[in-house]
Amino acid sequence: MSGNKTKKTKAMTPAQFNAAASKRVFSIIQKTKIIPVIQITKDDAVNVVRALSKGGINIAEITYRTKDAGLSIKEISQKLPDVLVGAGTICNVQQARDAVSHGAQFIVMPGFDKETVEYCIANGIPVIPGVATPTEVMNAMALGLKTLKLFPAEVIGGTALLKALKGPFSDIKFIPTGGITTENAVNYSKLSNVIAVGGTWIVKPEIIKQKKWDIITAEAQKAVMMLK
Ligand code: 3PG
Repeated sequence: MSGNKTKKTKAMTPAQFNAAASKRVFSIIQKTKIIPVIQITKDDAVNVVRALSKGGINIAEITYRTKDAGLSIKEISQKLPDVLVGAGTICNVQQARDAVSHGAQFIVMPGFDKETVEYCIANGIPVIPGVATPTEVMNAMALGLKTLKLFPAEVIGGTALLKALKGPFSDIKFIPTGGITTENAVNYSKLSNVIAVGGTWIVKPEIIKQKKWDIITAEAQKAVMMLK
């Protein structure tokens, strides 16, 4: 018999596992400072996300606005395992379940649906619901969430709203999304209660249609440089 001792690793409890998954996802988001929101078909998914990755953004939020969303997430997670892929525009538990079954590592919602948030928490899936009012922030806080999407950021008050929310909700971090552009992204990212900005401006549908992957890489590089 060999004298080699097998090192015993202690299995994580589900709570520890959830906390670790969450920590990893939010630390990647915070480091990258951008969540590109992408509406896509399965055939273009890998090309688009590879182009983003070449430009320094290893995150993709695939919106559930096309019938291909789940399959796109599956393609990306199988072919680009280094990319953090999540699902966006998730409005109910069924969509969240579908996204996770295809490999989504986080869930983003346009608004706050308690049942969907609870489903994600119970299943250890990092979830970022959208909020637009202090009441919604408080509803999310009541479920233990600390990072929320502010949506639609520009329309509901932009950076002024975020500054106002800082007072009562000093522990809450936001990912403003909705109306973010190359022009205003920096103003948002300078705020201490913003960990990242989200939006469609980096991956425009017409660029995908023309299959101009180099433009996506260039836009990603520009955004990364700007938010450094
Ligand atoms: C979203 O789904 O998060 C929004 O549609 C993004 O808004 P934008 O198109 O203004 O970036």
